[in-house]
Amino acid sequence: MLGTGYLGATHAVCMASLGFEVLGLDVDPTKIERLAAGEVPFYEPGLEALLRKTLSSGRLRFTTSYEEVAEFGDVHFLCVGTPQKENEYAADLDYVYAAVMSLAPLLTRPCVFAGKSTVPVGTAERITMRIHEAAPAGEAVEVVWNPEFLREGFAVDDTLHPDRLVFGVTSERGEQAMLDAYAPVISGGTPVVVTDLATAQLVKVAANAFLATKISFINAMAEVCEATHADVTKLSEALSHDTRIGGRFLHAGLGFGGGCLPKDIRAFMARAGELGVDQALTFLTEVDAINLRRRARMVDLARELLDDSLSNRRIAILGAAFKPNSDDIRDSPALDVATRLHQAGAEVAVYDPAAMDNARVRYPDLNYAGSTLEAAQGAHLVLLLTEWLEFREVDPAVLAEAVTSRNIIDGRNALDPDRWRHAGWTYRALGRP
Ligand code: UDX
Repeated sequence: MLGTGYLGATHAVCMASLGFEVLGLDVDPTKIERLAAGEVPFYEPGLEALLRKTLSSGRLRFTTSYEEVAEFGDVHFLCVGTPQKENEYAADLDYVYAAVMSLAPLLTRPCVFAGKSTVPVGTAERITMRIHEAAPAGEAVEVVWNPEFLREGFAVDDTLHPDRLVFGVTSERGEQAMLDAYAPVISGGTPVVVTDLATAQLVKVAANAFLATKISFINAMAEVCEATHADVTKLSEALSHDTRIGGRFLHAGLGFGGGCLPKDIRAFMARAGELGVDQALTFLTEVDAINLRRRARMVDLARELLDDSLSNRRIAILGAAFKPNSDDIRDSPALDVATRLHQAGAEVAVYDPAAMDNARVRYPDLNYAGSTLEAAQGAHLVLLLTEWLEFREVDPAVLAEAVTSRNIIDGRNALDPDRWRHAGWTYRALGRP
């Protein structure tokens, strides 16, 4: 496993739990030390217990040595990150090529190189060329593409029981290698789609583009609902009964963030531009814009509730992670809103059950609180921006004791408006009257 972030660490642990011998590599020695000691360096329910179990089975080890990995692996899974380039839409492939070029010259025997990282279409073909040129084993290194669809917070289950497996291959040998590597998963009933390399790379970005579009669609409806005093949660519920539409990813609110959806749609647009088919994806510009408008709308709504002045008003921010059950703050809508309010002069107090350490490092200017009640102390307004269960279950009567004014904006449509209004709160939400 090359790279032990959210994807690589989870994949390493899961493959070891399925009975394979696994060696995980990362260039960050602290990450490797922590994993080897049975500690997952990020929040992912269920992963640490499985890590400890597989470590004690002896089937899972970690290293920083490419030599060791080259010697060890029959299948090398590429799991490094492909973040958005600074000031550009395109994906940054530095980690991908660093991993490829560190490993390739050491590959002396036949093996399989399986790409899982999300890359612009065409990258797998380029990687194949580079590996065949640089590896002593030459074309005996079989390159396949095996995109990954796991969601943070459900990573273990998504890996052990994925809804599909996609194998982009150029030969029967590559296909057979993937069928073998995933035999225990496939025997559990997971469907397999075998494609060429280009299609496999596209499946991943197409899936994320579709999911982002679905979220922005319902958030666009929320904008219309706001202008018409309609209720987007009811609208969404009614749409969801049409099985052609379905209810998943139709939850209106503050919109999508995280390390995948935002950067993947942008990298997809950038790649389409290079390929001369930018018009095909122009709609994704709108998907991105709708998504970002929700954040601006949240700030406007806060200002409206505070009589048009944010200056020196105390605002409790519930949530920092980009979604619940995660400590990931990459492109977090919650922290974006908190920053905008802070910059507009408000005194924010941010609390999140898991993402505090990450938030403090990345956003040192914001104020943080140790609990929901501490964040709400003296607040003129409470914002629910990440729908952790802990926030959904807050008792409005108890929270009322802490605040100065009973104003709440439910940025995720996660609370029961009647319950909060009955407890004397002014309840507002995105897309609801
Ligand atoms: C996503 C894809 O789901 C996954 O298949 C891919 O491998 C990586 O990207 P992830 O980033 O973990 O996974 O988060 P996801 O659960 O998809 O949520 C993305 C964002 O959309 C979150 O910010 C979430 O709050 C938001 N969202 C999701 C909505 O605003 N409304 C919805 O209805 C669903």
